[in-house]
Amino acid sequence: MTTPDIVLNNGVSIPQLGLGVYQVPAADTAKVVQTALETGYRAIDTAVLYRNEAGVGDAIKASGLSREELFVTTKLWTQDQGYDSALRAFDKSLGKLGLDYLDLYLIHWPTPGRGTYLDSWRALEKLYADGRVRAIGVSNFHVQHLRRLFDETDIVPAVNQIELHPNLAQLALRTFHAEHGIVTEAWSPLAKGRLLMDRAITGLAAKYGKTPAQIVLRWHLQIGTVAIPKSATPSRIRENFEIFDFELAPDDVLVIDELDNGVRTGPDPDAIDA
Ligand SMILES: NC(=O)c1ccc[n+]([C@@H]2O[C@H](COP(=O)([O-])OP(=O)(O)OC[C@H]3O[C@@H](n4cnc5c(N)ncnc54)[C@H](OP(=O)(O)O)[C@@H]3O)[C@@H](O)[C@H]2O)c1
Repeated sequence: MTTPDIVLNNGVSIPQLGLGVYQVPAADTAKVVQTALETGYRAIDTAVLYRNEAGVGDAIKASGLSREELFVTTKLWTQDQGYDSALRAFDKSLGKLGLDYLDLYLIHWPTPGRGTYLDSWRALEKLYADGRVRAIGVSNFHVQHLRRLFDETDIVPAVNQIELHPNLAQLALRTFHAEHGIVTEAWSPLAKGRLLMDRAITGLAAKYGKTPAQIVLRWHLQIGTVAIPKSATPSRIRENFEIFDFELAPDDVLVIDELDNGVRTGPDPDAIDA
């Protein structure tokens, strides 16, 4: 089985399903990522904050896969924002990952109170121009933050990685992204597991002979988001990848759409200001 790709605004393809490694302990990360790569995952989402970039790098090295087959994302942490500090942070992340280029580099949070996301973005533009990263994007940006990038910098982000799951479908932001050629990437795509007991989801799981997690991840594929579910459990890592052999009927996609109640599992980006 292979993951379908979505083509970004610069022609680079991103796998529509990847493994997220937030809260995977550093000591376990290489093993977890190795399981994912053996399963068929080719995209891994990490961040400085997760303190496990080195483990991701170890698994990549041990996998024997060629670099071109993989799609590796990491993120600029808030304290590293600013032009020069972002360039230094990028080098450090690349060193920990043991890579000589990155596939996607994201500003982790806009933190507008710091007043540095524009300068940070200019650093990402330089890294992109220098060929050190294949695509650049942002995370947790609201429309007003994106508009400032459009107005004051040169490159439109390829991706905005935001909290998104059936309880937080982010329709307005998704529409804005689509209008501007930005791909929506969903973090906490399973709402951190909280959705998996929902009766609508368990009902669909019974109907399709799939698990609740597979139903939710299939919804992501069909609404066109990139999803990066996290699991440190080998059987779940495999389960979450077995979603390419069935399709939800349009009416069932609508049933899941109706679960949108605006409830977040994580902070609103506006609450993280500095
Ligand atoms: N940009 C950002 O600000 C941001 C913020 C948060 C997350 N992220 C990214 O998004 C990724 C995913 O988000 P997340 O980790 O918060 O939440 P998630 O992927 O929605 O949920 C992860 C939780 O669900 C459980 N789980 C996974 N697959 C399951 C299955 N098949 N059945 C039952 N339970 C299952 C996991 O448990 P086990 O691990 O115990 O199996 C874990 O507790 C992160 O790893 C990170 O890469 C980005």
